[in-house]
Amino acid sequence: MDFFEWTSEFELGIPVIDIQHKRIADYINKLHTAIENNNEELMKEVAESVVNYTCEHFAYEEALLNKSDYILTEPHIIVHNNFKASAAKMREEVCNGDNIIPAAKKMRSTLTIWLGSHIKKEDADWAESVGHLFRKKSFLGSVFNFFSKG
Ligand SMILES: [Fe+2]
Ligand SMILES: [Fe+2]
Repeated sequence: MDFFEWTSEFELGIPVIDIQHKRIADYINKLHTAIENNNEELMKEVAESVVNYTCEHFAYEEALLNKSDYILTEPHIIVHNNFKASAAKMREEVCNGDNIIPAAKKMRSTLTIWLGSHIKKEDADWAESVGHLFRKKSFLGSVFNFFSKG
């Protein structure tokens, strides 16, 4: 069973963002599997990947927000930066600490709680106010791709 159970309540209706959020949830579930199997090497590997990928996702999301006139772009980026700092600390504890399993468990719960709440509150807020810009764009983009493929 998944640790982070992905349901439609996490979907913001912007496919490119939903796919990225879901991918972070998949990493958390992979970390869960590694914990269940006592596989410390896999815990380290996933801890590395989930933090890297989360940072990539933040950068992508921030680039979208910077293109919009979303009023809370700056505070949103601060929230991301604060979380990046604590995620980096957790990665350090899993990858180079003395207590890998407790550190991996802490990472699994912190990421699940943080990500779930961030998507439903802060991300849902920007999606509601400026999401139409990117929904329209992705729709036009898919129409363009359809015709350009001939
Ligand atoms: Fe965000
Ligand atoms: Fe996000």
